[in-house]
Amino acid sequence: MRAIVIPAYGGPEVLKLTDLPVPQPGEGEVLVKVEAIGVNPADGKWREGRYQAFAPVPMPHVLGYDVAGTVVSGEGFAAGTRVAAMLHPFTKGGYAEFAVVSAASIATIPDDMSFATAAAIPCANLTGLQLVETRLQPAAGQRVLITGALGNVGRSALFAAARRGVHIIAAVRADRAEEALAAGAAEVAAIGEDWTGEPFDHAIDTIGGADVAPLMRHLRPGGRIVTASDVPIPADDLPATPEFDGVIPDGAQLAELVRAVASGALPVPVGKVLPLEQAAEAQQAVAAGGNRGKIILQP
Ligand SMILES: NC(=O)c1ccc[n+]([C@@H]2O[C@H](COP(=O)([O-])OP(=O)(O)OC[C@H]3O[C@@H](n4cnc5c(N)ncnc54)[C@H](OP(=O)(O)O)[C@@H]3O)[C@@H](O)[C@H]2O)c1
Repeated sequence: MRAIVIPAYGGPEVLKLTDLPVPQPGEGEVLVKVEAIGVNPADGKWREGRYQAFAPVPMPHVLGYDVAGTVVSGEGFAAGTRVAAMLHPFTKGGYAEFAVVSAASIATIPDDMSFATAAAIPCANLTGLQLVETRLQPAAGQRVLITGALGNVGRSALFAAARRGVHIIAAVRADRAEEALAAGAAEVAAIGEDWTGEPFDHAIDTIGGADVAPLMRHLRPGGRIVTASDVPIPADDLPATPEFDGVIPDGAQLAELVRAVASGALPVPVGKVLPLEQAAEAQQAVAAGGNRGKIILQP
């Protein structure tokens, strides 16, 4: 099968199209014929070797967490079933024509959902959902700041928080304020501008780094900062220590997200669809930002 591998850590130039044997599913696993692959910011970070100290990968390595396609064989799903899945972050394997996925990480998708949309859902939307539902669990009426609220993780956090009746303050670039309000935020905090409104009860961060630190100083005493970003928020005089949350593949939660996307309750925009061969361009686009939706690869 055609697959993109990294033979070693490095820049986008290490991504190579190659021929690999089709992987075989083991117990509790399913072989999926991949029709679309979601590109995540983490893909480029794994490629660079940012996580090698705690999770070195065997080389050559196939990157890619998010796939959508049809079941070929394996446990619990009939051949031909249309599915989406998040692969395990340590083993990955999505940038290929076929991928082996844990049956517990799979959700079926409706006939009228495109594979591109389905592949855009798993990692980012599970992250946003888990930040809200598993990690923070905010109460209705609480004032929660969500940074990067129009990004792929942020939109999902916004959806999950709104569903709980949270008062959402979306922290976005100043020129996207209207869009954030239309997406369900009650208020908007422009990143880089001083916040003069009421303090926040909690913060959900999807950006990290120094740019969000001034906003975090408006947290009420006892408030929490939960973050998906591996870029530390400078800790000086922050009212709370940021709690990092790492996403976990979960088929039941993914099925819930697929239903929300299918019903129109959770918008998951697709930014660009590129052929698998252009994995390097796709990762560069994701790293550069400014995309109005998910970047998708097609094998
Ligand atoms: N912990 C986990 O398990 C986990 C899982 C998934 C993702 N993540 C991490 O979560 C982060 C977000 O991922 P994503 O997929 O949501 O990325 P994304 O779709 O690019 O969303 C990021 C959003 O934040 C905005 N943003 C970034 N830097 C900004 C800044 N300095 N000022 C204002 N706005 C800024 C972006 O706007 P522009 O596009 O205009 O820059 C974009 O709207 C990444 O760091 C990713 O690695 C972690």
